[in-house]
Amino acid sequence: MQIVIRPSAEAVGEAAATLVAAAILKKENAVLGLATGSTMLPTYSSLQTLCQQGSISFSKVRTFNLDEYVGLAPDHINSYARFMRENLFDYINIDKSGTRLPNGLAGDVAKECHDYDALIAAAGGIDLQLLGIGHNGHIGFNEPGDAFEEGTHEVRLTESTLEANSRFFDNPDDQPRTAMTMGVGSIFRARSILLLATGKGKAEAVRDMVHGTISPKCQASILRLHPCTTIILDTDAAALL
Ligand code: F6R
Repeated sequence: MQIVIRPSAEAVGEAAATLVAAAILKKENAVLGLATGSTMLPTYSSLQTLCQQGSISFSKVRTFNLDEYVGLAPDHINSYARFMRENLFDYINIDKSGTRLPNGLAGDVAKECHDYDALIAAAGGIDLQLLGIGHNGHIGFNEPGDAFEEGTHEVRLTESTLEANSRFFDNPDDQPRTAMTMGVGSIFRARSILLLATGKGKAEAVRDMVHGTISPKCQASILRLHPCTTIILDTDAAALL
């Protein structure tokens, strides 16, 4: 695990975008694993700039997002599908038919999860997986528990995650209680992993990921066993290392 510390969230985004750009320059049809959330915004903004300047092209890139809320349509204001369009896909030259997220409206959620894993495998697996980290150490929506889940699956969100994400929902009753997420196994199979964390609120989770016991109680801790993981932190998120 390589740890890089930058002075601000913007500088973290620039550093992360540089690594994503390098992956695309190395392989024009790279398969990217993408995340949503506030941490990703500076990275997505830097990627938009790099693409608009002509430094990189997403025309052959394919993407798989980590997760989606169960019950939200792709056009719902809080869906991750919409987040991705509004913060990245609408501003880069990507072929949207190659951008995938679990379908929040799938009638058979277990089948949707199974099919999602099959699509990732058919694409040849993920070259570079972007991750944020939850205050409780979650990656994707793999919440603290007794096991590391293998493939894409449905999860009941913990109170701490519901609380952290409630800021995006005007009406708390509209906030879904379950989501589909890639499993830790799916994440771990990515050839390289890039986890970003910014802000004081992530300092404890970052400390537990880097120095705590490798355990499903802190799902991100397993990344220490991955042969090609880079963590980029701002000084606040790195404060307890
Ligand atoms: C989102 C995701 C989550 C977030 C994490 C951090 O697709 O998978 O694991 O990365 O909850 O969210 P922010 O960046 O909003 O603090």
